[in-house]
Amino acid sequence: MNSIEISHLTKKFGNFVSVDNISFNVKKGEIFGFLGANGAGKSTTIRMLCGILAPTSGDATVNGFSITKETEKVKKSIGYMSQKFSLYDDLTVGENIDFFGGVYGLYGAQLKARKEWTLEISDLKGKENLLTGSLPGGIKQRLALGTAVIHKPAILFLDEPTSGVDPISRRNFWDLINTLSSDGTTLLVTTHYLEEAEFCHNIMLINAGKIIAGGTSKELKSKFIKGKILEIESNNPVTLMEDFTALPFINDISIFGKKLHLFVNELYPGDEQLRKIAYTKYESEIISVNQITPTLEDVFIHLLEGSHVK
Ligand SMILES: Nc1ncnc2c1ncn2[C@@H]1O[C@H](COP(=O)(O)OP(=O)(O)OP(=O)(O)O)[C@@H](O)[C@H]1O
Ligand SMILES: [Mg+2]
Repeated sequence: MNSIEISHLTKKFGNFVSVDNISFNVKKGEIFGFLGANGAGKSTTIRMLCGILAPTSGDATVNGFSITKETEKVKKSIGYMSQKFSLYDDLTVGENIDFFGGVYGLYGAQLKARKEWTLEISDLKGKENLLTGSLPGGIKQRLALGTAVIHKPAILFLDEPTSGVDPISRRNFWDLINTLSSDGTTLLVTTHYLEEAEFCHNIMLINAGKIIAGGTSKELKSKFIKGKILEIESNNPVTLMEDFTALPFINDISIFGKKLHLFVNELYPGDEQLRKIAYTKYESEIISVNQITPTLEDVFIHLLEGSHVK
């Protein structure tokens, strides 16, 4: 069963096409990663799916409701944590929770129960009189998540919820995301942290408004990374990267700090031969060669920087 079905969705701002004829589905209860570089069209897509921004053409259903014809029903089905946190810094924790609870139509005993829950998941029990603006980033983000789901929506949109928070808080935040998903909530999440994308059940990659790849992390890796990936360390990786591009057994090269990732094909002559070629042909010493398992970063760099691909 699909929670979201997107069909030929397009958004233009003047002549500029921000979202270009995209179509895909999101299954009920899954954590769906919507990934792409800055300006790719992620937030614009989310705003259309939340019923905040009207598409130029195309349509989508969210929880079975059309985003163009049943906007109010869509809004009742969803929670949305926008890229800039939606909380009011000058309200206390308790006031923010009451405010969002009220916006979503909660009151009385129900609001009280959900308020307790929100305080609990944000580690803010007994601290509802603190000013929201004074909270540490990780806590504030959990509070923002709590208020976004205070009305128990079927579908939750999280637009870069973890940007700018420390790794431990990010890990804790993902535990919360997993709990919501196990309870049946559908989550569409954007992130620039590709290690977080590994936690998603399904991934869609958007670039310049167009969908360029989709699938599980495993599917993407096996589809786009053929052959082996070797990580090599050398004394001059940048020049070696340029020199190696011409070699017939190398399909693609990416640089990761001081290391290079070589995508080699069946012509690869072996580690010793590689060292020899580097040394005799290019006067470069290779310090180490290790075969690595591909990461999503390898996949995305490969897809987005097609210029190195032969
Ligand atoms: N209201 C607007 N008017 C004009 N152009 C816009 C508007 N909103 C977005 N854009 C443009 O549409 C493109 C996609 O923007 P969007 O915010 O959806 O990207 P994004 O993938 O969310 O990027 P980021 O990772 O930086 O948040 C960008 O080039 C942006 O400048
Ligand atoms: Mg964005």
